[in-house]
Amino acid sequence: MTRNRINPFEYGGVVAGDSFCNRAREKADLAQAIRNHEKLFVFSERRFGKTSLVRAVLAGFSKRTTVCAYVDLWPTDNEATFVTAMAKAITQAMSSSVGKLLETGKSLFSNLAPSVTLDEGGKPEVNFGVSRHTRIVPALDEVLETPAKIAAKHDRDVVIVLDEFQQVLEYGGDRVEKKLRSVIQNHREVAYIFLGSRKHLIQKMFMDRARPLYRAGGHYPLGPIAEEHWIPFIRERFAGAGKKISQGLIHSICEQTQGHPFYTQHLSHALWELCEPGATVTEELFKEALRLLLQRENYAYSTLWESLAMNQRKFLKGIASEAAPVKPFAGEFVRRSGLGSPSNAQRAVDALLDRDVIDRENGSFLITDRFFRLWVQRVQLP
Ligand SMILES: Nc1ncnc2c1ncn2[C@@H]1O[C@H](COP(=O)(O)OP(=O)(O)O)[C@@H](O)[C@H]1O
Ligand SMILES: [Mg+2]
Repeated sequence: MTRNRINPFEYGGVVAGDSFCNRAREKADLAQAIRNHEKLFVFSERRFGKTSLVRAVLAGFSKRTTVCAYVDLWPTDNEATFVTAMAKAITQAMSSSVGKLLETGKSLFSNLAPSVTLDEGGKPEVNFGVSRHTRIVPALDEVLETPAKIAAKHDRDVVIVLDEFQQVLEYGGDRVEKKLRSVIQNHREVAYIFLGSRKHLIQKMFMDRARPLYRAGGHYPLGPIAEEHWIPFIRERFAGAGKKISQGLIHSICEQTQGHPFYTQHLSHALWELCEPGATVTEELFKEALRLLLQRENYAYSTLWESLAMNQRKFLKGIASEAAPVKPFAGEFVRRSGLGSPSNAQRAVDALLDRDVIDRENGSFLITDRFFRLWVQRVQLP
């Protein structure tokens, strides 16, 4: 009998196929939104599975019926890089074969000069150049008008996914947002899915009246993966290597990670590594895995901790010690955590939000790095 010797728990990159746990309802919701040509803002904390989810959804559409352009805005920092990222994604989605990349690129984007080079894996990829002589406004108009033109001309559905959308806040000026607003309103035949990691930024962009994209579409908060879905997922992966884990201990994993997909995979990975083939995971092994993980991060967490102001530390200790969501500005919490006053709590919150140490969650806050939360509980609480 062959046993799987490669650790089946992946954390970090996009997960697909066998490594992708559930999200059945979310997949159906997004696929439906795309078929309906909706404009939807999908947001969650970092590493919650937005990219993996949307990739899985796009993979479910046939290239013959639907043009799916996936644009990763993470590396973009100005209008020019936005334009080239859009042009590249649309060209890739429209090419029937890699041999046609150049031809497709040229026919779609007259303002930009496409070139085809080999990527690291030796696969041809198309890139667009914006030179100092390129006039950015017409180029921007062109890439943003193209999806609707494709939908009209080719009688296919078109979906544009803009991942890490909050990057547009870095561009200086809100021209991209303004143009997107009019595009969104006029392109009835095109679905737009915006993904954003920083909940507070996305919320600022879409819930603030002063911003161009205020209420420009629906919003879809992506939650954690429920324990009932992790149970078979984790159990089967241990079983595949002849290892056994009880439902109780899977529950403990989910409890520690609060169902956060990245940390759940990470902790499962560490635990799987410690468990010998043929063995059963014990409570001791579970504690050992946690201890090891926190020990590995200890230096980084200590450095982070030392960089925080006293009230920020108090605030973190306060929210790390409560199981249920706290009311951070209520007198009760302020007194228990020793913050002195609600305005001190507010200042700590603002600073911690700004540094992404905490995030908003249902009217309260949580520590985004789930292992840091455990570290605070263990190392900083009495
Ligand atoms: N559906 C899923 N099933 C299992 N693990 C997942 C799932 N979604 C996300 N993950 C875990 O979270 C990590 C980050 O996923 P990713 O899609 O990159 O998140 P995001 O785009 O929100 O930052 C993955 O490497 C994986 O460990
Ligand atoms: Mg992502």
